[in-house]
Amino acid sequence: MGVKLKMLKVGFVGWRGMVGSVLLQRMMQEGDFSSINPVFFSTSNVGGNSPEIGVQLPKLSDAYSVEQLAKLDVIVTAQGSEYTQKMLPELRNKGFSGYWLDASSGLRMDDDAVIALDPINKTVIDAALNNGIKNYCVGNCTVSLMLMALGGLFEQNLVEWVNNMTYQAASGAGANSMRELLSQSGQIYLNVKDLLNDSSSNILAIDDNVSQTLRGSQIKTQYLGAPLAGSVIPWIDCAVENGQTREEWKGAAETNKILGLSANTIKVDGLCVRVGSMRCHSQAITLKLTDKKLSIDDITQILLNHNQWVKIIPNNKPDTLKYLSPAAVSGTLDIVVGRLRKLTFGEDYLTLFTVGDQLLWGAAEPLRRMLNIVVKHG
Ligand code: HSE
Repeated sequence: MGVKLKMLKVGFVGWRGMVGSVLLQRMMQEGDFSSINPVFFSTSNVGGNSPEIGVQLPKLSDAYSVEQLAKLDVIVTAQGSEYTQKMLPELRNKGFSGYWLDASSGLRMDDDAVIALDPINKTVIDAALNNGIKNYCVGNCTVSLMLMALGGLFEQNLVEWVNNMTYQAASGAGANSMRELLSQSGQIYLNVKDLLNDSSSNILAIDDNVSQTLRGSQIKTQYLGAPLAGSVIPWIDCAVENGQTREEWKGAAETNKILGLSANTIKVDGLCVRVGSMRCHSQAITLKLTDKKLSIDDITQILLNHNQWVKIIPNNKPDTLKYLSPAAVSGTLDIVVGRLRKLTFGEDYLTLFTVGDQLLWGAAEPLRRMLNIVVKHG
């Protein structure tokens, strides 16, 4: 007769938001709820109904109740940094010794927190679990997606430095920004519709109409801060002292932390740009290889062998148009890598373009997988 292991009591906070909803979707797809005892919490609807996940659940508990939270083995939160900063110290002060799994950026650089991206840093995670580390968080989406794409090269110490120029989706700025992007597109279309439908209209008149909309007062910019439809925004997050944005600063800081590197760190820097895609981040990457003898075929094999989600898209126009875009990747776990070639600068300079879903590998999936790792660890 097998011994039935005690199921961990796992509390979910912030499950109604965008990342939380994707997390629940993925957990249901993978049947993850059958191996835990889930309890759902709310900051605004205590006593309301828990989500439909195919099992009987109690009513929503109070996400601000230290007493109720402290009874859990694991807390999974996608509620945001403010919630983490308020509740985690209170809970730890009251003796909560369970796991805190966090989708927000609040804890990422803390010494007692690990950034979890297990296809890349399972050994770092395992060592932390064995050392009694209880705080785990998800990395910045751009960093996680870049590491998933290039995992094979990092694993074999083939990267001297990385320059990543990003094309980041509206979802990275939140659900309201996604809605705003679409409302901006709609406003542009509404204003230009008559000209567009008139086959004799001049394209410069059409363009002028669009520019006037983009610069006028009708376009909504409350969340994005500027027009994104028909434009780009080359600034993400706040400034740090050296001219980088915080999003750009995270590139090196988080990459090296995820890889567990404190000496011989890898330089990562680039320019982060918001573009009008919905939920996929893309990156044009240039990197310097430590071994210039590697051929593109060698590199292809190294990337493919690293993890099952990498898909190499042949460097030709039909395949690129069909497979290497947010439109093709959105809603999937694929990490597509294409436009792979050596730069004309020399054999040690590799360039490529990669796309991944910001809500999946960029947020919910590493969190879901970390929960399963904790469940197996017990
Ligand atoms: N900071 C990212 C962005 C999303 O603004 O796209 C979260 O990692």
